[in-house]
Amino acid sequence: MTVHVRLRRPHFASGYTSNARYPLRNWSSVTFKSACVVGAGRVGKALAARLGERVPTWTTGREVEVGDAEVVVICVPDRVIPEVAQAIEPGPWVAHTSGACRLDALAPHERRFSFHPLQTFILDLGPEQFDGSWAAVSGEDEEALAAGRTLAALLRVTPFELDDDERPLYHAAAHFASAFLVTLHDVAAELMEAAGGPPEALEPLMRRTMENGFSHTGPLVRGDWTTIERHVEAIGARRPELLPLYRALADTEAALLRVHSR
Ligand SMILES: NC(=O)c1ccc[n+]([C@@H]2O[C@H](COP(=O)([O-])OP(=O)(O)OC[C@H]3O[C@@H](n4cnc5c(N)ncnc54)[C@H](OP(=O)(O)O)[C@@H]3O)[C@@H](O)[C@H]2O)c1
Repeated sequence: MTVHVRLRRPHFASGYTSNARYPLRNWSSVTFKSACVVGAGRVGKALAARLGERVPTWTTGREVEVGDAEVVVICVPDRVIPEVAQAIEPGPWVAHTSGACRLDALAPHERRFSFHPLQTFILDLGPEQFDGSWAAVSGEDEEALAAGRTLAALLRVTPFELDDDERPLYHAAAHFASAFLVTLHDVAAELMEAAGGPPEALEPLMRRTMENGFSHTGPLVRGDWTTIERHVEAIGARRPELLPLYRALADTEAALLRVHSR
């Protein structure tokens, strides 16, 4: 499939000012004086806005035109990353922001790296979504990793190196931490509603659990097995389809507690 190209420069992302501090104090050997972001979705919009605070940054959509950008960050659905990469003339550094896609999705580019912000983004919020975040950087040599660190410095996130081969395991970890957390919330809300309580009352509990550094509390920590058996009976009677999930989580928690208490 052919991807058409349209130049939108000069169209600086909001926040860029002529007195922006550049170059940043960054010890890596790679610097970027301009950037192009492909895709203005959840990640692309926030990323362009944050980059635009530091360097001239422009965005491009389906008719991809990267101009003379020194780095091109591809923020499109994973399945179209290869065709977008192929539509860009080799020359600039090219990166994608996918946690699941390998580096070879960026072929034919050799100056390439991946940069996965370990964060969940929505369209309603802006560049502040990067605040406090980490990002996984993969690259095939030291220069590519340095390019990833430079992007991290511009975005003000904490980079860490990720082996391209470890990507499926890494992405599974992120899945547990974000999407499955939502699933657990939704399951808890259903049981709360079934018991006649307000589901929103669960939110402060979930927040405090995180603020407490995921410190284990609850019946398994106290060894209250009778309580666990009552949970099993109640879920089995009212929401039996949730029983395998409850049992799997209880078994996993018990195993982790045994490991931690050794
Ligand atoms: N969302 C997150 O929380 C998150 C977090 C970390 C990493 N990521 C990764 O970031 C990347 C982007 O995800 P997203 O959630 O930002 O996606 P998104 O909100 O769906 O936005 C995708 C953007 O790509 C554009 N696009 C689609 N097909 C294109 C094509 N063929 N050529 C050029 N542009 C195209 C879309 O334009 P249209 O509006 O015209 O469709 C849209 O602006 C993915 O690799 C994802 O895995 C996402």
